[in-house]
Amino acid sequence: MLNETVALLNGVHIPKLGLGTWMIKDEKVVQVVKDALKVGYRHIDTAAAYRNERGVGRGIKESDVDRKDIFVTTKLEGDIKNYEEAVKAIDESLERLDMKYIDLMIIHSPQPWANFRDGNHYFEGNLEAWRALEEAYEAGKLRAIGVSNFEQIDLENLINNGKIKPMVNQILAHITNVPTDVIEYSQRQGIVVEAYSPIAHGAILDHPVVKEIAETYAVSPAQLSIRYVLQLDTMALPKTSNKEHMKSNADVDFVISEEDMAVLTHLPLIETYGDDQVMPVFSSQYKEKGQ
Ligand SMILES: NC(=O)c1ccc[n+]([C@@H]2O[C@H](COP(=O)([O-])OP(=O)(O)OC[C@H]3O[C@@H](n4cnc5c(N)ncnc54)[C@H](OP(=O)(O)O)[C@@H]3O)[C@@H](O)[C@H]2O)c1
Repeated sequence: MLNETVALLNGVHIPKLGLGTWMIKDEKVVQVVKDALKVGYRHIDTAAAYRNERGVGRGIKESDVDRKDIFVTTKLEGDIKNYEEAVKAIDESLERLDMKYIDLMIIHSPQPWANFRDGNHYFEGNLEAWRALEEAYEAGKLRAIGVSNFEQIDLENLINNGKIKPMVNQILAHITNVPTDVIEYSQRQGIVVEAYSPIAHGAILDHPVVKEIAETYAVSPAQLSIRYVLQLDTMALPKTSNKEHMKSNADVDFVISEEDMAVLTHLPLIETYGDDQVMPVFSSQYKEKGQ
């Protein structure tokens, strides 16, 4: 799976499986990235907001793998909704990563986190941030540009009023929680969808039905969860700092039957994401579904 890639709208190839690094501290992520590259990962997902770009950059430098063979994604802070700040933030990410270019930079969220999914879409602010990304792309600082947590209406704003179409939409998607409408809309537009938190931040691991189905394929619940999002034609970004988990998470070349995909898709939304339930990306799920 680690060698499989998909072409973005501009022809740049992105590996289908990436390593998430949210909540891995800057000092620790250096070794995590080195381990992942040794295991064979070639796609690392970080963000300015994770405060670990410096460590990710160091891990890549200290590895035996050429920079050009690694796909690095970072994210423009969701709170930045004006052109000048966005221009500055792009350069700061390049500086922290200590790289001449970033493979993919995406707007982290259509709303600042404190206002996540509060009904305001910050259309003008997102267009300003997008213009900064477009210019950095044209200047060769970014090989691809995209967005995260964007709903259809947010994507339409950029598609109708921007110069370049977003190439990626990174969204929360996992067994029990598949936002089919935005996935289908993005894919119809040629926008590659990345599934973040594919293991539901760890909360799916003890799900009885997931465990039962995983057993029938002789795989772990984590492997079933990763394979599930890949079969939705979305990229998978599992996070782990454990080398054994890195290996098994990439060992997902089995096929989930159509019947089992349907069963997994119709499971009710998990009840909680654990201690990190308070995070806007998770708590909003329950608000949106009226739970
Ligand atoms: N764009 C956004 O707004 C956004 C939001 C959230 C996440 N993300 C991205 O998506 C990535 C993944 O999401 P996530 O961190 O929420 O969660 P996740 O990948 O769904 O789950 C991570 C949890 O699963 C455990 N795990 C991983 N592999 C395992 C295995 N084989 N067996 C048992 N446990 C396993 C990890 O623990 P161990 O370390 O012990 O393996 C960790 O506790 C993030 O790191 C980030 O890059 C993006």
